[in-house]
Amino acid sequence: MATTVDKYFELVDQHQKEFIETLREVVAIPSVSSDASRRGEVVRMGEWLQARWEALGATCKRVDPGKQDLHGVELDLPPVILGQYGNDANKKTVLVYGHYDVQPALLEDGWDTDPFTLVETVDGRLVGRGSTDDKGPVLGWLLCAETHKQAGLEFPVNLKFCFEGMEESGSEGLDDIIVAEADKWFKGTDVVCISDNYWLGTSKPCLTHGLRGVSYFHLQVEGPGADLHSGVFGGTVHEPMIDLVHLLSTLVDPNGRIKVPGIYDQVMAETEEEERSYEGLEFSHKALSGDLKRDVIIHSDERMTLKHRWRFPTLSIHGVEGAFYAPGDKTVIPARVRGKFSLRTVPNMEPARVAELVTNYLNAEFAKLGSKNVMKVIETHGGRWWYSSPNHPNFVAAARATERVYGVTPDLTREGGSIPVTLTFEENLRVNVLLLPMGAADDGAHSINEKIDKRNYIQGIKLLGAYLHEIAVTDLTA
Ligand code: BES
Ligand code: MN
Ligand code: MN
Repeated sequence: MATTVDKYFELVDQHQKEFIETLREVVAIPSVSSDASRRGEVVRMGEWLQARWEALGATCKRVDPGKQDLHGVELDLPPVILGQYGNDANKKTVLVYGHYDVQPALLEDGWDTDPFTLVETVDGRLVGRGSTDDKGPVLGWLLCAETHKQAGLEFPVNLKFCFEGMEESGSEGLDDIIVAEADKWFKGTDVVCISDNYWLGTSKPCLTHGLRGVSYFHLQVEGPGADLHSGVFGGTVHEPMIDLVHLLSTLVDPNGRIKVPGIYDQVMAETEEEERSYEGLEFSHKALSGDLKRDVIIHSDERMTLKHRWRFPTLSIHGVEGAFYAPGDKTVIPARVRGKFSLRTVPNMEPARVAELVTNYLNAEFAKLGSKNVMKVIETHGGRWWYSSPNHPNFVAAARATERVYGVTPDLTREGGSIPVTLTFEENLRVNVLLLPMGAADDGAHSINEKIDKRNYIQGIKLLGAYLHEIAVTDLTA
């Protein structure tokens, strides 16, 4: 006898074309949260979601988190869309989170096609900004509910949702809303599911139980009151850019080892259980260097690569504001520069301690330079890591759903990236949180030609639905 889930799978297969069209519609809304000129598009994307859920019968609450100061421009933060779909005391309540904002993208960055026009390739890729991060998964929940309703299939759970438009810019304003709504809008939540990450490889699904935190810093060096001519002043003044390059070089060595004293002291010790968890994962340097288009991998051991992605802190240098970067030659001495770098943090590092270690170290290194310039370390963002056990029934339900859709037992993974609100949900709602990815390792989130494979998108819509059906029949207290 065909079950509701079988019927749902069949309907998803029948509606593939429409689902791709819906993805096309939302990719065309350039909801780039870091770009002040696109703020209206971010808001439009939030309103699109709210309207579509309301048309389906969900109750929504739009929360406007207030104002943001973006490089001196005052902007309204985009709305957080809270929703409730179904309210049956006999059903469990699942809260899902996702983000409807995207990273910036310009054709000039090297995209093969316009980033905001979805392109379906012959090899089955759906290319467009946000396709995998995170519009595909956010749509997945909506399309799942719509499909049930159209076919008159009973929806298995009460669904609550929280969709934000500032994730790519540090989720400004969201923590306060989660805290304030924990016993109000989010009351009654049994489990949380977030679909905003990726498989470890390209063929085997996974469930994810850890994320790293991120501490972001600006290192500013200020010298003369204005830019100078290097022919006149080179060699006669302390140059901010020279100081900055020296300081940046003291942070990390070419093999990724962080040089800030004490930074590794808080890192959780390795256990045998953890050591075993690396066995049998779908991960290889061969596939990774293929994705990277060149073998630039530091480690020779695959396990070490995963450990440096998941369980050790890392430090990356992102850019320099105020430095000359245009093509051509310009003999300038920049007067004020700001180096940007961040650390990915892991259990059991505390952001406040990280900031203290980094600041003290840079102050000491700067003193060694004997420069008359003025140096300042500014921590702009400190998001915490999240690490939980994958043994909870929430994970068991997701594993069963994965087996149903893909026919395999998912890998259990952690991620190197960050979704700062994950821990906020866990702490304030006091329920289990699961990360259930839709996309694959080679999707290129944040990069050029971001895509989600049609297979992952369509099977992913099935997976999210199958997961809700599994939750409905799982004893969550077990
Ligand atoms: N979807 C990612 C988080 C992620 C990245 C999960 C890599 C798994 C692997 C999310 O949209 C993201 O990009 N987060 C930012 C957070 C930052 C702005 C605080 C990140 O990790 O850089
Ligand atoms: Mn994301
Ligand atoms: Mn992202």
